[in-house]
Amino acid sequence: MKIDPWVARAEKVLMNNVRRLPVVFSRGAAAHLYDVDGREYLDFLSGIAVQALGHSHPAVVAAIQKQAAKIIHVSNLFYLEEQILLAEKLTALSGLERVFFANSGAEANEAAIKLARKYGKTRMGGKYEIITAENSFHGRTMGALAATGQPKYQEAFQPLPAGFRYARINDLASWEAAITPQTCGVLLELVQGEGGVHPVDPAFFQGLVELCRRHGLLLMIDEVQTGLGRTGKYFAWEHFGVKPQILTLAKALGGGIPIGAMLAREDVAAAFEPGDHSSTVGGGGIAFATALAILQIMEEEKLPERAHRLGAELKARFQSWQQELPVIKEVRGWGLLLGLELTVPAQPVMRSCLEQGLIVNAVTPTTIRLVPPLNISVADLERGLAILKRVLTAAAE
Ligand SMILES: Cc1ncc(COP(=O)(O)O)c(C=O)c1O
Repeated sequence: MKIDPWVARAEKVLMNNVRRLPVVFSRGAAAHLYDVDGREYLDFLSGIAVQALGHSHPAVVAAIQKQAAKIIHVSNLFYLEEQILLAEKLTALSGLERVFFANSGAEANEAAIKLARKYGKTRMGGKYEIITAENSFHGRTMGALAATGQPKYQEAFQPLPAGFRYARINDLASWEAAITPQTCGVLLELVQGEGGVHPVDPAFFQGLVELCRRHGLLLMIDEVQTGLGRTGKYFAWEHFGVKPQILTLAKALGGGIPIGAMLAREDVAAAFEPGDHSSTVGGGGIAFATALAILQIMEEEKLPERAHRLGAELKARFQSWQQELPVIKEVRGWGLLLGLELTVPAQPVMRSCLEQGLIVNAVTPTTIRLVPPLNISVADLERGLAILKRVLTAAAE
């Protein structure tokens, strides 16, 4: 791949804090992206599970344009109509009564951690510890990073905030062992996305819910990646008929316009008093209007159900590929959050896909993550699958 002049310029001025692929995009439409040379790509990554409706959905563009011309920001000292409408929508969808708006997933989790601590301090006799999962991902800010059970992300930034203990998903005994007299709650993803697409087992999760009930612990679920239809339900916890006390959202909520949300049950939310937590922008008019437009389309087009159906079909397809392609060791995930565990390194597979016009993500050294838009057309899905199969066939040779 020749080095694009834009990439050369970027490498001089952008911080070297992430590994980027050498593609400079200039335009997107639905599941299609176009680079500065006009080359087309099919997007099975959706800006890392953000573009649930694909790129530049007309209803989203219209909502942004309308809101930009109407009102953008007034600060958190006042209300905005769109903020109230979005809070009403999210509380109705989740059954949790109160919302705080932030600007990202990490910020939503920071808010969740602070609310749990304040609740623990004021309602649980001073408890403050939170148990999170090994291999989890909750964000890069210091509190969210402390919650993220992956030493490789934490080591360079020690000391991190104290008060976190770690356990393993699908190993209930490890959560029981991590409980101390100081524990106020647990925080986890129901499918570990960044950790390599690892879902919780139903029996483990039901056991954890029961453990929280027995010990009076707050159940906090990070739905930043899984939330809003991605796994085939609006919230991954709906697969179990269980409702957490605290929920965090971001990614698909704003479709690329920065927004995060932390929702809580009424009695838990009541631990926050004026002055306890805030953010100057905390979403803002354009983000609220965008989220409302996205949720409306999701509802009208029944996208969670579609993700469920398409995800099941895809999973079955990948499992059938395993017969002829032993390079696929395992197929994991729910809905349109799928992971292919390979017997070969994932990076070259991702790069070959990119060269052939398909964007997928090597989320671990051996896992390919697939998170296409929830409304991707069947024709685009089939085109992308054909490329993926070709690349995996070559990888096996
Ligand atoms: C489960 C989960 N929580 C939190 C985050 C952090 O979100 P953000 O990057 O918006 O801060 C991510 C991002 O990948 C995530 O997957």
